[in-house]
Amino acid sequence: MNTPATTESPKIPARESDILEKPAPYVSGVKQSMNVHPLFQPFRLKSLTLKNRIVMAPMTRSFSPDGVPTLQVADYYARRVQGEVGLILSEGTVVNRPASSYNANIPHFYGEKSLLGWKAVIDKVHAAGGVMAPQLWHVGIVAPDASSWLPPAPFEGPSGYVTPGKMGGVAMTERDIAKTIEAFAQAAASATVLGFNAVEIHGAHGYLIDQFFWHPTNQRTDGYGGNTLVERSRFAVELIRAVRKAVGPDFPICLRISQWKLQDYAAKLAATPQEMEAWLTPMAEAGVDIFHCSQRRFWDPEFDGSDLNFAGWAKKLTGKTTITVGSVGLSGDFIAGFQGETATPRSLDELFRRFDRGDFDLVAVGRPLLADPAWARKIHDGRTAELHNFSKEALATLS
Ligand SMILES: Cc1cc2nc3c(=O)[nH]c(=O)nc-3n(C[C@H](O)[C@H](O)[C@H](O)COP(=O)(O)O)c2cc1C
Repeated sequence: MNTPATTESPKIPARESDILEKPAPYVSGVKQSMNVHPLFQPFRLKSLTLKNRIVMAPMTRSFSPDGVPTLQVADYYARRVQGEVGLILSEGTVVNRPASSYNANIPHFYGEKSLLGWKAVIDKVHAAGGVMAPQLWHVGIVAPDASSWLPPAPFEGPSGYVTPGKMGGVAMTERDIAKTIEAFAQAAASATVLGFNAVEIHGAHGYLIDQFFWHPTNQRTDGYGGNTLVERSRFAVELIRAVRKAVGPDFPICLRISQWKLQDYAAKLAATPQEMEAWLTPMAEAGVDIFHCSQRRFWDPEFDGSDLNFAGWAKKLTGKTTITVGSVGLSGDFIAGFQGETATPRSLDELFRRFDRGDFDLVAVGRPLLADPAWARKIHDGRTAELHNFSKEALATLS
């Protein structure tokens, strides 16, 4: 587990694994009044078949020394399969660029040793009857990690900004961009060779791809920048096309996106449904099968005048499969909790209401699965009295 980076700037992004804030005031206590079964129906898309709709959200754990996943990492994921998770998304695993990572213990998705480590992971997950996709990641420009580990080259991003107005790395050349796209495509090809069932591209939370989407961090004046979100999406679109070419037509590609950023929780890339449609459509056409729509609280409406959340809008606008995520089954959001805030189990009724309405196809769950590998099975069996609280102690081990 990473500890928060110490920095003079309050706006420097914390990690996904160490951010803090007050929890959302929300009803706690589990009341399971609706039928859980629709969530436990199988799901099929291209070559992917899932036994149910529950997805393990990608969660950085930093337990892979020198970027090599260990057998403990394999066992950790296999336990979630045994606990009835339909699709495992790996923690963010970095592509082959000199500065794609901020911590020595974040797994790589390149290099012989790391790929052998991943082979052991996917083999264990398959042996347990599971299905898994790696989350391919480049962190872009971030604040140096509290571990004081630094990559062998400066952090790289669209314009050098780590947060609006503050430099923290170098602006990528067109050659850097081409090499980065190639690195994602190569990692995706490796996922197919190793036997993974799909890939997820991390395009969210203010990391590299999102730094291109976001105007304050993308001030480029070449063809990868521009005043519109559509123009700033060129990097993502080219990257998705390259990944599609690398994996072939039948292998599902998931793209994780968010409006919010670690640099600014209130940021909105798309301010209206029209802007969202203009943003997502070219990426769907480039090869995205699944939009993984990251929110901190899945029940937050995306735009005024409708209670549809991000995943609901993405599905309505593109017709693609969507995953919702954010505080499913817990009282406080994931930004809370890392300085001792305990989240308690809470009702899934609102989730089921939206699911039954057809707003989204899959549901990703993060912290509940860290606290308890058997979370999905307990939901399936209605054993709600046995659900665990989430507290930050769950981050300390790979249990
Ligand atoms: C410890 C931790 C690490 C995370 N690391 C990642 C990551 O590597 N990639 C990513 O896209 N999201 C990451 N997230 C965000 C989660 O995938 C998820 O969106 C978030 O925890 C909200 O879901 P929850 O409320 O069910 O926990 C992380 C969250 C936690 C708690």
